Amino acid sequence: MITTTVKASKEYRVFTGSGLLATSGEIMREVAPNALKLLIVSESTVAPLYLDKVKTSAVANGFEVYEYIFEAGEASKNINTIAGMWGVMAKAGFTRTDLVAALGGGVTGDMSGFAAATFLRGIDVVQIPTSLLAMVDASVGGKTGIDLPEGKNQVGAFWQPSAVIEDTDCLLTLPDEVFSEGMAEVIKYAFIMDIPLYNILKENEKNGIGIKNDAWLMEKIVGMCVADKADVIMSDEFDNGRRQTLNYGHTVGHVIERNSNFTKPHGVCVAKGMGIIIDACVTEGSLSSDEAVKMKELIKAYGLPVEDEITAEEAVSGAMNDKKKRGNTLSVILVNRIGESEIRKMSPEEFHTFLRGALA
Ligand code: GLY
Repeated sequence: MITTTVKASKEYRVFTGSGLLATSGEIMREVAPNALKLLIVSESTVAPLYLDKVKTSAVANGFEVYEYIFEAGEASKNINTIAGMWGVMAKAGFTRTDLVAALGGGVTGDMSGFAAATFLRGIDVVQIPTSLLAMVDASVGGKTGIDLPEGKNQVGAFWQPSAVIEDTDCLLTLPDEVFSEGMAEVIKYAFIMDIPLYNILKENEKNGIGIKNDAWLMEKIVGMCVADKADVIMSDEFDNGRRQTLNYGHTVGHVIERNSNFTKPHGVCVAKGMGIIIDACVTEGSLSSDEAVKMKELIKAYGLPVEDEITAEEAVSGAMNDKKKRGNTLSVILVNRIGESEIRKMSPEEFHTFLRGALA
């Protein structure tokens, strides 16, 4: 097991390793010694696989357990689902020392965190991510929230968890395309800040998503990503500077995702977004063709696309409606050499010119 400590507005540990669901109750008891009640939030595809294990461990550690299971998918990420969670806690008489556990992927983690951040003006939450994407990104760092019809994650709060429990055995049950999606975020860390991680991914690229079945390797890779994220959070918890580098590929990726009405998965869109930024950087001369080929080959090796039919016009107008915009300026994340990133402020016109290097 790998333990990573995050020191932000709250200090907490991220536990990464095999078999951790069975001991999740002990960890929750340790971080919430006075909690009587526990609300486990999960979704319709994850609950049948893992809810019983977490519940058994929680009951054995003295929690009175309540459940809230919602329909899996981004369409559930709205205020009605949050109101459902608030309702269960209010009816059961939860107090400020009680606890919420988020068991599932990014949607579950974001919503449970937001319900916890707002109920009684804030109760503790433990993140128990079951997808690769949630393990390496969404569960660490305290971003919580819901979507609005106008856009993704438009309402939310920073609310750091009390602990993150990552049972890497959960990766074994992930469908290939869902695992592949998570690899987009893993590759992102390699590109923006982590050459040793890039080297590991490169060495294993012939196995592609087959690495899912190598438990030792996956624990190492997830642990490296968590350490990267912790490092970023500890230097910029509230997303005013360095944390924005985690949005590499996301500015265009979010537009592709929203334009598809969320039918294209998040990780696939991030991969496409990275591919487009790579091409645009080569055209403007800030990234060498050799480096670009290596980057795009790595993305493709893990089952992800690097292109999309979106136009520069569509990408810019979509990005100008994104919450990442500040005033009339976008912070665009560029990688000019593997392992190093740059935050470049661009006006809409500059972003359009830049993207025309990659898109029609
Ligand atoms: N998912 C990007 C961040 O946590 O900032």
